[in-house]
Amino acid sequence: MKIEDVKRILVVGGGQMGSQIAMQAALHGYAVTLNDLSGELLEKAMKGNRVQLEKRVTKNQMSEAEMREAIGRVTLEPDLEQAARAADVAIEAIVERLEPKRECFAKLDRWCPPHAVLCTNSSTLMISQIASATKRPDKCANMHWFFPPLVMKLVEVVQGKETSEETAQLVAELTRRIGREPVILRKELPGFLVNRILRAQSREAYHLLEEGVASFADIDKAVELGLNHPMGPFKLSDFSGLDIGYNARLETYEVTKNPADKPPAALERRVKRGDLGRKSGRGFYDYSVNPPKPTD
Ligand SMILES: NC(=O)c1ccc[n+]([C@@H]2O[C@H](COP(=O)([O-])OP(=O)(O)OC[C@H]3O[C@@H](n4cnc5c(N)ncnc54)[C@H](O)[C@@H]3O)[C@@H](O)[C@H]2O)c1
Repeated sequence: MKIEDVKRILVVGGGQMGSQIAMQAALHGYAVTLNDLSGELLEKAMKGNRVQLEKRVTKNQMSEAEMREAIGRVTLEPDLEQAARAADVAIEAIVERLEPKRECFAKLDRWCPPHAVLCTNSSTLMISQIASATKRPDKCANMHWFFPPLVMKLVEVVQGKETSEETAQLVAELTRRIGREPVILRKELPGFLVNRILRAQSREAYHLLEEGVASFADIDKAVELGLNHPMGPFKLSDFSGLDIGYNARLETYEVTKNPADKPPAALERRVKRGDLGRKSGRGFYDYSVNPPKPTD
């Protein structure tokens, strides 16, 4: 398939990532189908997108008509079989667990047209683990976006053992056409580039915390003021969702069996009590107060 033949993009999972990936593609002229488990979840996803675009209209970054047109390019479809029918490229952004992703890919393989390319937005899982649930592993790749997709410019495109060069190049070009910058990884490995570097930093931050060297708030402060990072590692975890980091670590640990990859206790404790970061109002920090206050 040539890039010009990509007309409709299917995004499966309209959560934090999928909703905005769908919107970003629609903003760049693509017809998009967004799928989630129910119509209500899909409405909620588009409500969030509308809020983001309205801010742009207020700031004169786009017109009201452009906003309406872009939103109009997104079709909401809770029935995956129906949603998959006309997709040229599918981007899966459901929960970060291997089995549900494999099930999703098996369905996409069954219901998408034979030429369609299937991508996962997984943060850590390697495409070959998921693509083996399909009969088209050459047409499967990681297309890893960063949160929030309407803002963050980078997309990591990962070639698995069986991903064809044509597929990798097509996904990279599609990334450019939807206003994002690709990097291509020629080898698959858990965590790709950015998350491996981030993980190394985060592992050291948790190590320092667990050794009692400093509080997490002071570790954040040190990284922000000493390294000029916009957010320290604990604030960043809250921002992305503690459950995302927790599940990603579990998946990595299952592959590597390296005890250093296990979710740290301070993270596990918060996830188990439902403190998932900004999205639940509380994580390492309590967001019900301004400025947010460190939690126990
Ligand atoms: N949040 C991040 O910072 C981030 C960054 C990059 C990649 N990712 C990856 O993106 C994916 C989604 O993450 P998220 O933060 O958007 O999660 P989320 O929990 O906000 O959204 C997941 C969505 O998928 C839907 N869903 C679950 N099972 C489904 C199914 N079988 N069919 C259709 N929809 C289904 C859920 O209802 C939910 O709306 C994960 O693989 C995650 O690792 C997340």
